[in-house]
Amino acid sequence: MNADTPGGIPLERIAAIFEAERESYVSLHPRSLALAGQGIAGFYQGVPMHWMRDWSMPFPFVVESARGAVLTDVDGNEYADFCLGDTGAMFGHSPPPVAEAITRQAGKGLTCMLPTRDALEVGRLLAERFGLPHWQVATTATDANRFALRVARAVTGRPRILVFNGCYHGTVDETFVRLVDGRPVNRPGLLGQVTDLTELARVVEFNDLPALEAALAHGDVACVIAEPVMTNCCMVLPEPGFHTELRRLTRAAGTLLLIDETHTISTGPNGYTGAHGLEPDLFVLGKPVAGGVTASVWGFTEDVARRLDAVRAQTPPGHSGMGTTLSANALSLAAMRATLEQVMTPQAYAHMDGLAARLAVGLQRVIEQYEVPWHVVRVGARVEFICAPGPLRNGTEAEAAHAPALEQAIHLALLNRSCLIAPFHNMMLVSPATTAAQVATLCDAFESVIASLALDLESWQ
Ligand SMILES: Cc1ncc(COP(=O)(O)O)c(C=O)c1O
Repeated sequence: MNADTPGGIPLERIAAIFEAERESYVSLHPRSLALAGQGIAGFYQGVPMHWMRDWSMPFPFVVESARGAVLTDVDGNEYADFCLGDTGAMFGHSPPPVAEAITRQAGKGLTCMLPTRDALEVGRLLAERFGLPHWQVATTATDANRFALRVARAVTGRPRILVFNGCYHGTVDETFVRLVDGRPVNRPGLLGQVTDLTELARVVEFNDLPALEAALAHGDVACVIAEPVMTNCCMVLPEPGFHTELRRLTRAAGTLLLIDETHTISTGPNGYTGAHGLEPDLFVLGKPVAGGVTASVWGFTEDVARRLDAVRAQTPPGHSGMGTTLSANALSLAAMRATLEQVMTPQAYAHMDGLAARLAVGLQRVIEQYEVPWHVVRVGARVEFICAPGPLRNGTEAEAAHAPALEQAIHLALLNRSCLIAPFHNMMLVSPATTAAQVATLCDAFESVIASLALDLESWQ
């Protein structure tokens, strides 16, 4: 991509539009400016979690409420929310069955380190839905991945994991490796990382089966951890046959396969795994699984359970290195039960899928109309526009497709037109509460932004 024209748009035009949108944002948010514009007292960097500074806006607006797919700020601005807490609220904010379950549980104890009646149902619901017989509950998808990888190492007796270049599976140390000029390195930007993570991980490009086979041939890889579609760089779809071969090669090498469905649960009620007949040994789902209450789950096969039993029988008593105190607490299990029983339904997914398809078509139409060299990708309820030609085949191509300055200008301009999309990439989620009118608003806003960016490009140059 040309550095002076990211996404085909001259940098000066991007800068001019960003400045105009910045002024507009400031004028639309006087109360947020007064309350949080200089940083919120007591918090490092003025926010409760440093990622809150990574949005495109000059200062974050303060949320008054979030219901369904509508977010309202303290200035009274309303947004059609397509970020949805970047997947934590994928089924809408405070889905009524979840809100009711939380209210019911609130008077009955929040955390006890013991199973509640809801736990009796949740294990069965998970096994039924995702087809694996053994489950554990953790607090975040990061933790679930960490614990599942620990089990993989324990049962295979192997040290390494294998990741795909450009992946993100939460803050799991050994997944923070990248390929730079074909060589594995620690991912740039890590703070306080004093070990060489490449000693614990192998990294190959997504869709590169010969490289995968060669990396597995060392015989030291306990587990491949993969999203079925890469969603954390610009979205990268698996090429035809990739998953079949991934499974065949991992089995042949005695390597376990962990499928992380935290984002691709957008595909359908049984995840991408269910929709495409994948056969993981380990399965992870976090974020929306309890309707926005902090929780994650990880499951595994009978074979892994049997091997884990054998390892445990040989292991002296002590801390397993897995589990955190609040994991599987009563509140999260109540919320998870409500989500699995009443929120993640086929009907909800039918609505999400239909509107997401409409959104993808609407965005693609604008891209074609204004002849910008971009494309749109969709995985069920998850849609992304990418400011580069597609399809992308791997993490390196996805990295090169990013156009940070352009994306920031677009995000801020969409926000000023009442549409919120995810901050880190150009991702939009459609929830059961999202309306056709909101999708139309987003398509119109996108068109207005692209028109200002792309019209009369020749006269600008
Ligand atoms: C695929 C995937 N796995 C795991 C995680 C980690 O989730 P959490 O931050 O809730 O631990 C993320 C977060 O974005 C993710 O995208």
